[in-house]
Amino acid sequence: LTRGSFPKGFVFGTASAAYQYEGAVKADGRGQTIWDKFAHTFGKITDFSNADVAVDQYHRFEEDIQLMADMGMDAYRFSIAWARILPDGVGQVNQAGIDHYNKLINALLAKGIQPYVTLYHWDLPQALEDKYIGWLDRQIVDDFAAYAETCFRAFGDRVKHWITVNEPHTVAVQGYDAGLQAPGRCSVLAHLYCSQGNSGTEPYIVAHNFILAYAAVASIYRSKYKAAQGGQLGMAFDVIWYEPMSNASADVEAARRAQEFQLGWFADPFFFGDYPATMRRRVGERLPRFTAAESALVKGALDFVGINHYTTYYTRPNDTNIIGRLFNDTLADTGTVSLPFRNGKAIGDRANSIWLYIVPRGMRSLMNYVKDRYNSPPVYITENGMDDGNSPFTSLKDALKDGKRIKYHNDYLTNLAASIKEDGCDVRGYFAWSLLDNWEWAAGYSSRFGLYFVDYNDNLKRYPKNSVQWFKTLLGTSS
Ligand code: GCO
Repeated sequence: LTRGSFPKGFVFGTASAAYQYEGAVKADGRGQTIWDKFAHTFGKITDFSNADVAVDQYHRFEEDIQLMADMGMDAYRFSIAWARILPDGVGQVNQAGIDHYNKLINALLAKGIQPYVTLYHWDLPQALEDKYIGWLDRQIVDDFAAYAETCFRAFGDRVKHWITVNEPHTVAVQGYDAGLQAPGRCSVLAHLYCSQGNSGTEPYIVAHNFILAYAAVASIYRSKYKAAQGGQLGMAFDVIWYEPMSNASADVEAARRAQEFQLGWFADPFFFGDYPATMRRRVGERLPRFTAAESALVKGALDFVGINHYTTYYTRPNDTNIIGRLFNDTLADTGTVSLPFRNGKAIGDRANSIWLYIVPRGMRSLMNYVKDRYNSPPVYITENGMDDGNSPFTSLKDALKDGKRIKYHNDYLTNLAASIKEDGCDVRGYFAWSLLDNWEWAAGYSSRFGLYFVDYNDNLKRYPKNSVQWFKTLLGTSS
């Protein structure tokens, strides 16, 4: 595998998110976000940590950009914290926030690294949650569009790739059904550990507002900024690949349905103007509908499809989820169950996270699915990677030996290259998650996704794991 295994101009980078990396949560007028509040709520984070400091990229971005440059990376995907730009979500712009991201963007460009900027990586200003329960209220569409426009005006002369929203599916399901992520809403059943919610309707309303917000932003960009700035807009979808548990047609159908409820839920409206028919049938009245005008605005609004892909599961139908059906939870709505096991045998090696099984072939299948279903749209792999555990018993020397991660990236990239060269999929770039170990949401610091090890006990020093050398060789910067 070399750069030459990929088309000319194919972009390599690493990805990150503001709340997972920046720290400095009180610096320079940043407002509070729903993740600050969630992380500081007792019992929400497995290791009782928060990201007040994280890996302090707010102060160390120059050092980190040098690490990227040394590896030969072409691009860096990071997110802007809405609450640094607009501390209350709307209204007064915080110039210090603008200044920070200007410095970051300029430092990247000075090293020849292209910024790929996410506008929303989950850190909603708490003020909007307090005001109207954030993504549940249609007002969010206008407020998000105003924030996005502020960013286009401030940074659009230099930023040519915008990922408006990261993983809307995860937010809808984990934030408004399972209650495991901010804002931590969920079904009445689970109210002991969640704040209020109604999982039967809220995930679908939130999803609808994400789609409408994207469409509003795209329409503003195209009419007011595109001609001068020439950038492109997309969203990053989290997509598991679902393999049928067996060749039986019921299993094949279940795997398709699971995919329609994951990728189709968000991507179909952009390509076909509506949700998948299966979803409309199964969710019924609880699924919002697009008006004709909305549907026309949404259809065709994506310039590229961002895909965050990590793992693959086996899927079969499941119509016996009685409790789930009673409470209309999103999984019960799919009528499927997906597992990393078949006949007691795992689908692949497991990484550290309990959900992350290593199945490189899923990457190729998924790229072909996207190509066939959506007629060959341009795709970026906006995230792909695996984690190790954070054990106090591992020596630094051993922690840097990440042969498993090298194999992971090698095998997923080999499948990606095959999907491009042999199957004709239009994939433009690949972002490894992540440059550095960082704060893994509800798993806190217990999980290490970095190509670089971060020493949390010694001033957050960065050390290259072996995969750094592997990437250098791949990217042709190895000496
Ligand atoms: C996302 C992801 C990342 C995670 C990564 C590893 O929202 O894009 O959740 O933030 O850290 O996927 O789980």
